[in-house]
Amino acid sequence: MAGADELVVHGRTKRDGYKAGTIRWDLIAEINQQLAIPVTANGDIWGRDDALKCQVLTGCKTLMVCRGALNMPNLGQHIRDDVAPMRWPEVLRLLVRYSEQERQGDKAVYFPNRIKQWFKYLRQYYPQADACFKVIRVLNRADEIARALDNAREQTEFIK
Ligand SMILES: Cc1cc2nc3c(=O)[nH]c(=O)nc-3n(C[C@H](O)[C@H](O)[C@H](O)COP(=O)(O)O)c2cc1C
Repeated sequence: MAGADELVVHGRTKRDGYKAGTIRWDLIAEINQQLAIPVTANGDIWGRDDALKCQVLTGCKTLMVCRGALNMPNLGQHIRDDVAPMRWPEVLRLLVRYSEQERQGDKAVYFPNRIKQWFKYLRQYYPQADACFKVIRVLNRADEIARALDNAREQTEFIK
C-alpha cells in the first residue's frame, strides 16, 4: 500500500455495475483481514438489517452508504443511532434547502436534472414522492422546480 491511512471498498467491479446479486461483501472481508489500516465496507446497504449483516460478514467497524441515503436522507443516523427514518415533510424541507443552495453559483445549470434523479431514489422509500415528482418532471426551469418544491413543502406543513 502506498501510504494510505484508510480504505473504503465498494465490493463490485466496474463491469458488475449495480446489477442485483453482484455485491461481494465476502471479498471486503478478505481485504479487511489482510490490511492493518481501517477498512470501510460499501455497497448495497439499504437499511439496518443490511448494515448488520455487512458488518458481521466483513468485520468492518465502519460502513459507507450511498444510494440508500438518497432513498432515505438520514439512513446513516438511522443505522448508527436507531433514529427513526426522516419523515416526508422533513425531506421536503431538505429538498427546498438543497434547491436554494444548488441554484446559487456555477452548478445551477445541473439542478433540474439532479433533483429529478434524486426523486428516482426518494420514490423507492417515500410513496408521497410520486405526486411531487409528477409535478416537477415536466418542468425544466430551476426556479419553477424550486417553487413547486416549496409549494409541496407548504402543503404538507398545512396538512400536519
Ligand atoms: C449519485 C452517485 C454519485 C456517485 N459519485 C461517486 C464519485 O464521485 N466517486 C466514487 O468513487 N463513487 C461514486 N459513487 C459510487 C458510490 O460512492 C458507492 O461506492 C456506490 O454507489 C455503492 O454504494 P451503494 O450501494 O451504497 O450505493 C456515486 C454513486 C452515486 C449513486
